[in-house]
Amino acid sequence: MRNRVLITGANGLLGQHLTKLLLTKKNIEVFASGRGKDRLLEQGYNYISMDVSIEKEVDDVIASVKPDIIIHAAAISKVENCEDNNNEAILQNVSATAFLLKAGKNNGLKHFIFISTDFVFSGDKGMLTEEERRDPPNFYGQTKLMAEDCVMQNWPFKTSIVRTCLVYGQVKDMSRTNIMLWVKNNLKKGNPIKVVNDQYRTPTYVKDLAQGCFLILDKEAEGVFHISGKDYLTPYAIALKVAKKLNFSTNLITEVTAGTFKENGKRPLKTGFDISKSKNILGYEPISFNKGLEEVVK
Ligand SMILES: NC(=O)c1ccc[n+]([C@@H]2O[C@H](COP(=O)([O-])OP(=O)(O)OC[C@H]3O[C@@H](n4cnc5c(N)ncnc54)[C@H](OP(=O)(O)O)[C@@H]3O)[C@@H](O)[C@H]2O)c1
Repeated sequence: MRNRVLITGANGLLGQHLTKLLLTKKNIEVFASGRGKDRLLEQGYNYISMDVSIEKEVDDVIASVKPDIIIHAAAISKVENCEDNNNEAILQNVSATAFLLKAGKNNGLKHFIFISTDFVFSGDKGMLTEEERRDPPNFYGQTKLMAEDCVMQNWPFKTSIVRTCLVYGQVKDMSRTNIMLWVKNNLKKGNPIKVVNDQYRTPTYVKDLAQGCFLILDKEAEGVFHISGKDYLTPYAIALKVAKKLNFSTNLITEVTAGTFKENGKRPLKTGFDISKSKNILGYEPISFNKGLEEVVK
């Protein structure tokens, strides 16, 4: 029997890649859900319009689809939006997760997989393991911590948390940009850019993240997994690599410290993940940043 897998946030960067990846698996029937209309517009899956922040919609959809597995990728992930509207951030990121968990419990769910973030960590230390103490520096991180806690409660199905970091890639009709596209688009227009040289991340190619989610589903692996790239880079180093790869002049790129920007919501200075657990338990093997850059340029 095929497993019925429901993806939330299927119009987003991860959601679109995950939908495409799961469609290649014979034992999976894909239910892609998103806010409003389908933006991937491909064949082979069932698209369902579902706003995860409306409990009645979640209850109705989960009762009619009766998924075996839910991969919950929908979120407000812009730090500024969460700082500006705390109540909305709690509704979208925490309550919505609780609605899905409860509906799953009422409809025979077998596995719930939640996508979380490196922003649950303070930024004092990089290359973090799954056991590191969480201490979010901003409200977005706090909502993800609260949602993680909901997922970690005692549910009658398997639960997993996928923490990821600075995801890059491209999909159709994106609602938000990412570092690689931001650098490319600015340099293409000849716009000078200031890029931070004292933050550290392990940037994640979106197809690797989708594969990490699939491995968790396929192996029915429970618990927390860090799924990211393997190169520990600053945004400035990333911008230089993008410029060189695309033959743009690096003269337009100025390196600055994070303190230069007056941002709404503090960003952690160092994050980036130790992915040993995911490698050992899941057989997760991400490509290098250089290879990911080549893939996106193609
Ligand atoms: N991108 C990163 O660097 C990064 C890093 C760490 C963790 N994450 C996490 O990874 C997950 C996937 O992120 P992503 O990069 O794919 O972001 P994304 O492209 O912004 O996708 C998120 C999707 O969620 C949808 N969404 C938001 N609120 C919704 C609601 N109430 N009901 C239904 N759908 C809703 C958005 O819909 P619209 O398209 O209509 O806005 C969007 O399509 C998120 O949980 C995010 O927090 C991302």
